[in-house]
Amino acid sequence: MKLDSKKIGIVGAGLIGSGWAAFFASHGYAVSLYDIDESAKQAAATRTKTFLAFLRDHGLLSAEEHELAVERVAVADDLADAVAGAYLVQESVAERYDVKKDIFRQIDRAADPSTIVASSSSGLLISELQSVMDHPGRSLIAHPFNPPHLIPLVELVPGKATSAETMAEAKRFYESLGKVSVILNKEVPGHIANRLQAAVWREAIDLVISGVASVADVDKALAAGPGVRWALLGPHMIFHLGGGAGGIEHFVRHVGTAWNDLWSGMASWESLPPETAAVLSRGVQEEAEGRSLQEIARWRDEKVVQLLKVIYDR
Ligand SMILES: NC(=O)c1ccc[n+]([C@@H]2O[C@H](COP(=O)([O-])OP(=O)(O)OC[C@H]3O[C@@H](n4cnc5c(N)ncnc54)[C@H](O)[C@@H]3O)[C@@H](O)[C@H]2O)c1
Repeated sequence: MKLDSKKIGIVGAGLIGSGWAAFFASHGYAVSLYDIDESAKQAAATRTKTFLAFLRDHGLLSAEEHELAVERVAVADDLADAVAGAYLVQESVAERYDVKKDIFRQIDRAADPSTIVASSSSGLLISELQSVMDHPGRSLIAHPFNPPHLIPLVELVPGKATSAETMAEAKRFYESLGKVSVILNKEVPGHIANRLQAAVWREAIDLVISGVASVADVDKALAAGPGVRWALLGPHMIFHLGGGAGGIEHFVRHVGTAWNDLWSGMASWESLPPETAAVLSRGVQEEAEGRSLQEIARWRDEKVVQLLKVIYDR
């Protein structure tokens, strides 16, 4: 592995590629951004600057660090230029097997064999992506949560051909930049966090569609209740505490079993009901109470910065 190299290649410069660019540049890495779409490349350079300014404005970068970070971001002429000499390539193109496999093939040929190739994929299987590579041992999923320059989690997923060395090095690398990593023992569509989100969202949609509560109240119930604790601890530890002196064992035996009745009556559909988009769209408009998307996103990101300071001492 090229521990002395400080360059990160980013292939796919949309929302996530730009967030990664701001993240790596803010941690001292030179970033080379590539996108197949020329206008997307320029938009990504602008978006990355906006993200870096946000980090400076919220005390996460000093004025001097911000200036250096901006200078570290370059737009590459082509894919080979982006990945040449890179320590790691963060693939962030569209979430489709055909697109990603084509890109994996190109990165594999253009990059030094020791370069780590990490995919941002939210749910695809890395074994399928790495099947087109001559050097698949250096590839893995490194799935961020949006926005990557703020949210700590990165999910690291090995494929059938990923080497133990690659997994250990990726964990060391992302954690050295302050990321909180989890490692999956085996790959599964959606990794961990999106499967959990999908399970909760199905029930949230069902509660609205079946008339139990409004979109705003379902959102409020989650955010003001479990969500506050979930920012600190996951469900297993929460219920371990909920079991009192007997811990999780007591909870499972005496409290958890009452939930069997709940589970038997909960949503189990496997594709979104046709009315979902229309119902949720009306609901979130009411919930927004006249605030624009930009206003809500800015409020969320400012609160996230405050939370990170409290929880992770950033
Ligand atoms: N949006 C999220 O919340 C989120 C969160 C975590 C991970 N991800 C993952 O990150 C990846 C990118 O998602 P996004 O939301 O940034 O999408 P996006 O549509 O904003 O960006 C994708 C970019 O890839 C480019 N692209 C497409 N084909 C290409 C090719 N052949 N070569 C080079 N560039 C190409 C597009 O021009 C576009 O700019 C996906 O795998 C997605 O699952 C997304």
